[in-house]
Amino acid sequence: MDLGDALRTTGAVREFTDQPVGDDVLARILDLARFAPSGGNRQAWRVIVVRDPAQRRRVRDHYLEGWHEYVSHVLAGVVPFSPLATASERASAHAQLDAARALARPDGFAESLDQVPVLLVVAADLGALAATDRDLARYQMVGGASVYPFVWNILLAARQHDLGGVMTTVATRDEVALRDTLHLPATFAVAAVLALGHPRRQPTRLSRRAVRAFTTIDTFDGPTFETPR
Ligand SMILES: Cc1cc2nc3c(=O)[nH]c(=O)nc-3n(C[C@H](O)[C@H](O)[C@H](O)COP(=O)(O)O)c2cc1C
Repeated sequence: MDLGDALRTTGAVREFTDQPVGDDVLARILDLARFAPSGGNRQAWRVIVVRDPAQRRRVRDHYLEGWHEYVSHVLAGVVPFSPLATASERASAHAQLDAARALARPDGFAESLDQVPVLLVVAADLGALAATDRDLARYQMVGGASVYPFVWNILLAARQHDLGGVMTTVATRDEVALRDTLHLPATFAVAAVLALGHPRRQPTRLSRRAVRAFTTIDTFDGPTFETPR
């Protein structure tokens, strides 16, 4: 597949056929994904392939905790989990939690996460991350940049095998318990939970902002970078 086509069409896939994904295919996907860049080439990622049905249900349950919180933010009309959320925005989301739980659908992606063909958890070794913004008095985000290219590579590599999937993070809301479930040392963070499989539908047109909507010249408030015609 042409790289440009892959970049334009690798959207989130949350519905899969029953066709299984062999370990040979998963191994090839991980073998491609490992060429992702990371700060200092520390490759701080670890992958847990969750196979055991009971373990899958536990991961699903941790996911559901975060999912209900996500929906509660949507119901409250606030940006889910914004690091800049005010106390009042957090409280209004919290007030919607029961309403969010009541919206559960047995066949929803969150509720049936334990049934996806491939369920992966990607963890990050905090001791190996090059988190250059660790001392700044703001929310820290650079550390994740050493792991998420790897996660994204998994999704891109999956396209080679006509697979689709989605990177998810809401389970990190329940990370303390999730870490216990996965026997993850305290020095590791959960970066993502990934679902992979044969898509019921492969997205073709993704909704994304135009380059001019997010690119300026020289300064943040500089002139818009216009795409040459
Ligand atoms: C960092 C990150 C976290 C995400 N977390 C979740 C999640 O917890 N659950 C989920 O269903 N999708 C999750 N997604 C998928 C996004 O919802 C999806 O990429 C976005 O809505 C674009 O969808 P599209 O590719 O179908 O256009 C996440 C994506 C990213 C990049």
